[in-house]
Order: sequence, then C-alpha cells, then structure tokens
Amino acid sequence: MTASIPVITIDGPSGTGKGTIAQLLADTLGWHLLDSGALYRIVAVGAADKSLKTNNIKEICDFAAAMKVVFSTRFEGSILLNGEEISFQVRLEETAELASQVAAIPQLREVLLQRQRDFRLEPGLVADGRDMGTVVFPNAGAKFFLTASAEERAQRRYKQLINKGVSVNLRALLQDINSRDERDANRKVSPLRPADDAVVIDTTTLTIEEVLEAVLIEVRAKMPEATAL
Ligand code: C5P
Repeated sequence: MTASIPVITIDGPSGTGKGTIAQLLADTLGWHLLDSGALYRIVAVGAADKSLKTNNIKEICDFAAAMKVVFSTRFEGSILLNGEEISFQVRLEETAELASQVAAIPQLREVLLQRQRDFRLEPGLVADGRDMGTVVFPNAGAKFFLTASAEERAQRRYKQLINKGVSVNLRALLQDINSRDERDANRKVSPLRPADDAVVIDTTTLTIEEVLEAVLIEVRAKMPEATAL
C-alpha cells in the first residue's frame, strides 16, 4: 500500500531554494526524491525536439505518456530521455519557459499525475514542485511552501547560471521569473499556491542551513515515527 509510505512536499516558485532543500532533506532522511519540475522540463525538451507547438496537445500528451525517463540519484545529475542524455537542455532557461507553457495544459498534468505518484517508494519520498501538496500528494505528512522576493530569486538563479558558465542578463532573468510565476499562479489547473496545511517559509534572508533546520524541526514534530530523527 503506497498510501502508508511517508511523503514530504516542498512547493514554491523557482529560486526559493526548494530544489536544494528537497535534495538535502532526502539525503538526510535517506528517502527518494521527486523533482517534478524536471518532468515538465523533459516534456518541453521532447516537444521542442519534435517541433511541437503548445497547441499540439494530443501529440505532447502522447509523447509524455510514452517517454522513458531515467534520473541519476543526484538532483541536477544526469537525465536520460529515451536513452539520450539531456540534462544540459533540461536546465536551460528557454526550457523552463516552455515547461511553464506546457505545464498549463490540463491533459498533460493528468498524464504526468500517476508517473509522479509512482515515485512514492519505501522508505519515503520528498517531492518538490508547484502542486505537490495541493494535488499530487494531498495526504502528505508534512507540507512546505517556500517563498522569496523576486529580486532575491533572480539573483540566486543568476549566480547559479554564471557558475555553470552560462552568460545571462539579470534584468531579463527577473522579467522571465516574474512572467513564469504569473503564468504558474494564474493557470486554471493546479495553480501555484500553498496547500491550506502547508508551512510557509520566506527564505529571502535565510541561508540554506537555516531553511533546512526550520524544515527539520517541523518534520520531526509532524512525522516522528516516519523520520525517527
Ligand atoms: O521547478 P522548475 O523550475 O524546474 O519547473 C519548471 C516549470 O514546470 C515551472 O515553471 C512550472 O510551470 C512547471 N511545474 C509545474 N508543476 C510542478 C513542477 C513544475 O507546473 N509540480
């Protein structure tokens, strides 16, 4: 019964540190990790590769239903799509933009729903995304929603990309982030919003260690038997 396998959800817009926190938390607990944004990004890479437009809904959904995806165990590690290494394309800003467009297609969200739930394996799962606590794992044992100012999120993403050797313009990045957030928050299906029972953490002035500590305190309190920390 997968329903008894513990799940922690971490949602929020990009650049709030949720991917890093989800990875650290999964490492700390020895649990599995679901980077659900990567699934939408992989669909975007596949759609771009086939020159599909966002109104080619059936083709995009058929592709997503059939795609074979292999993640390496590490966050931002290798990603194989139908046997081909695509991690570089997955992390590009243009892929994030297209991912946010395809993510607004209700039929695609439906296709990806069970695939995401299949990550719920023993001994537990940390799930990172936009609708983990609201739609995909509504019965999660602990839910978090991370926020940060748009400026801070753009700065973080800027540093990340510069460190990877990608040249970017901070102002353009800020605009992209704002427009993606607006689309994610205002779409009809599974909009970006905190679950009613999520703990909201503003990470603007916090270090990764401070956020992780706040998350662990809450997890210990809410799931003592599952985490045995
Ligand atoms: O988290 P990441 O930036 O990789 O997500 C890329 C895009 O995928 C987001 O902007 C969002 O539109 C979409 N997404 C989503 N639901 C999720 C995860 C990501 O709609 N659970």
